[in-house]
Amino acid sequence: MSTAFDAGNGKITVPDILGRKTSRPSSSNQSSDRRSDRGDSERRRIVCLTAYDYPTARLLDEAGVDVVLVGDSVGMVVLGYENTLPLTVEEMLHHTRAVRRAVRRALLVADMPYGSFHGHKDEAVRNAVRFVKEAGAEAVKVEGGERRMELIAQMVEAEIPVMGHIGLTPQSMHALGGFRVQGKTLEAAEQLLRDARAVEAAGAFSIVLESIPRELAARITSELRIPTIGIGAGPDCDGQILVLHDMIGLSLGHTPKFARRYANVGEAISHAVSAYAEDVREGRFPADEESYHLSSEVRERLLAARRS
Ligand code: KIV
Repeated sequence: MSTAFDAGNGKITVPDILGRKTSRPSSSNQSSDRRSDRGDSERRRIVCLTAYDYPTARLLDEAGVDVVLVGDSVGMVVLGYENTLPLTVEEMLHHTRAVRRAVRRALLVADMPYGSFHGHKDEAVRNAVRFVKEAGAEAVKVEGGERRMELIAQMVEAEIPVMGHIGLTPQSMHALGGFRVQGKTLEAAEQLLRDARAVEAAGAFSIVLESIPRELAARITSELRIPTIGIGAGPDCDGQILVLHDMIGLSLGHTPKFARRYANVGEAISHAVSAYAEDVREGRFPADEESYHLSSEVRERLLAARRS
């Protein structure tokens, strides 16, 4: 297994991501004004996407994505689970290894699946170490805020960079009562602020803010020294992430309103498969030029052999 670490050669590292922190004002008015004045920091927003397999990870890396996350969303968009909860460490390791083989430049982050960090902290750190040691991840992502402080600190102590994740944390779907926008009341917003501060204080190098109001994400972004990566958290974060299958039209279930679609790969696959099926049924595939041929000498000898 290769680990692609080649700092100084365009390789994105954890310190590079930390260095991409842009100071932002917290009010939405100020941030709108600022967008008309595009400086360097605006252009350097962190671009993150999920990938779960070799070909898509390679395409993302070659397109210059900064962070490739092997998200536990793989459970839903690729493996067909109803939610992310059944996903195992072994399944995540398998996908992380495939992505590792493809990614040369981007920072590779692996999601810790549900149950892999909820028991004893030593076991959680051992699981995180497996992602680095056995699958080549350069960092892990852990859902949760204040209550993950000690765990994140322990992982950082074990030399594992940690990306936090607060707001709508899909692994807490039962506790949250489903997939809904978080932090809308004053109390909930204040709790998310405490969560964000705790994740930073524990030593995380970045934090995902999922499905929270724009104003709250802007406030967290302006307060933290580590970069915020938004998903359904408005444009004022230091970076953005989407689930690849949502943005290319390959998710078969419901997609949230923030998941802008840039392509319709699902439709392209359906058209291609229907055209292939029709060609096979009608005898139009394969054509002669898509067939292999014997040399004339072998063909004649074969025919002669059949006659004799
Ligand atoms: O699993 C995932 O894809 C994620 C991102 C949406 C942040 O956690």
